[in-house]
Amino acid sequence: MYAPEFDRLLACLADVFRDEGRVEADRTVNALLTTPAPQSIGKRTLGDLDAEIGVVLAASRHPAARAVLAAQCLVPWGTNPVAGQMKDDATAICAVAELLGPDAPVPAPDLRVGLLYQRPDSYYPLHNHDADETYAILAGSALWTAGGDVRQRGAGELIHHPSLMPHAFRTGPEGMVALYRWSGDINAHSYAFLDDPAVRAV
Ligand SMILES: [Fe+2]
Repeated sequence: MYAPEFDRLLACLADVFRDEGRVEADRTVNALLTTPAPQSIGKRTLGDLDAEIGVVLAASRHPAARAVLAAQCLVPWGTNPVAGQMKDDATAICAVAELLGPDAPVPAPDLRVGLLYQRPDSYYPLHNHDADETYAILAGSALWTAGGDVRQRGAGELIHHPSLMPHAFRTGPEGMVALYRWSGDINAHSYAFLDDPAVRAV
């Protein structure tokens, strides 16, 4: 069954990257708007995780947060392309829904777009990967490490990580929902957790 909410979601997510000002962001916007998604998108029954994510989304005024909330039963949480590289403590604190990519609902050979949910008061340790990445926070906030730049980031902010830049996120009591896009070398096997002083100190 064709799900118009899914198209509305993709259009809203495309808007997030429209003003990023990078060629690969423009290409991602175009892919989100022009690549046909499958006619049949499975609607899920909402569960406890959806309720948890819904609380964070509902507290945000970001238009894309509202679009994700409206299409929640179509968002494929649990489709993390780098799940094989994740540590146990990282999988316990987050969920990923890949929307565009080599194996995603919207097929793309050389780009990825997806959503990350991170639980309240949790730390996603320092990691990196070959792909260039831009994150947009849709709801909640985090103390964000991007290379040597460490600061609080909130809804509406875009953060760019060039290839192999180490990054880490520490959420507060709200948790966070963020949108990512990958370009360049989007392989999953280079995804790696790094020696992290914040983890060693615990
Ligand atoms: Fe990343």
